[in-house]
Amino acid sequence: MSNLARGCLLGIEHLDRKDIFSILQLARRMNPSKPPPRLRGRRVLLLFYEPSTRTRSSFEVAAKALGAVTVLVQASGSSIEKGESLLDTGYTLRALGADVIVIRHPNAGAAMLLARHLDIPVVNAGDGMHEHPSQALLDAYTILRHKRTIDGLRVLIVGDIYHSRVARSACFLLSKLGARVTLCGPPEFVPDIASTLAPGIAVGRDLQEGLRGCDVVMLLRVQTERLAGEKIGLDQYIAGFQMTSGRLKWAKKDAILMHPGPIIRGLELTGEVADSPQSVIVEEVANGVPVRMAILARAVEKA
Ligand code: CP
Repeated sequence: MSNLARGCLLGIEHLDRKDIFSILQLARRMNPSKPPPRLRGRRVLLLFYEPSTRTRSSFEVAAKALGAVTVLVQASGSSIEKGESLLDTGYTLRALGADVIVIRHPNAGAAMLLARHLDIPVVNAGDGMHEHPSQALLDAYTILRHKRTIDGLRVLIVGDIYHSRVARSACFLLSKLGARVTLCGPPEFVPDIASTLAPGIAVGRDLQEGLRGCDVVMLLRVQTERLAGEKIGLDQYIAGFQMTSGRLKWAKKDAILMHPGPIIRGLELTGEVADSPQSVIVEEVANGVPVRMAILARAVEKA
């Protein structure tokens, strides 16, 4: 059975429109305050090799809302620190009765590796610079609460695209749903080759031009932890690409402002923009719960 059929969610790249809409529709039916006990008696293992606030907490809230027991294993304080391999850690969690493993890992392909060797659903909660599929799904869910359709929308993604698994998953999803996406930033963050990621993706260097006629503005965190050896002047980045209230006016009046978080006020955006009426950043976090409930419910149903 394929990973997809087995309930795994490893990335957006290999999903089709039908898969995406079926998860979004299921999420719409999930009411976190009156949830169906679809995971009663199940164990969801949260295996996090990298820091996380939103993704880890919302998968935990989602799993518990559906009646599951959750167990958190983090690299720090576990036998991973003693050198236990990813696969041996996976076998251990399976032996402990895991029904689903949600994994975040610094290496691209880690979730796929685990999925290939285990007979239970594996959900990718972010693997290196590869994909962050649940973030793309919750972002699509959020957009659809403000816009009638994603088809034909103009989306500007600004910032550190090169290091961003959020951007990769967003590009795959938005392209499949018919959005016109422009990736905007300096060449160190947005190499020209990024336009080949998926159909309908363009690269732009000028923020004002990119914002003109834009329906959705998605900002990304500058991933200083992945910048080793790369010479990026943060002052120069702020001068050219920081989102300020004045610059946000270049977009459509009803444009929404998104950011997957964590936000760094004063770097990729000002505090005023983060807290502005156009900002849906907090709503994105809240929408993570029904979307991740849907992902877990789908995982268990297809297992
Ligand atoms: N958006 C996101 O992945 O946030 P966390 O790193 O806090 O999970």
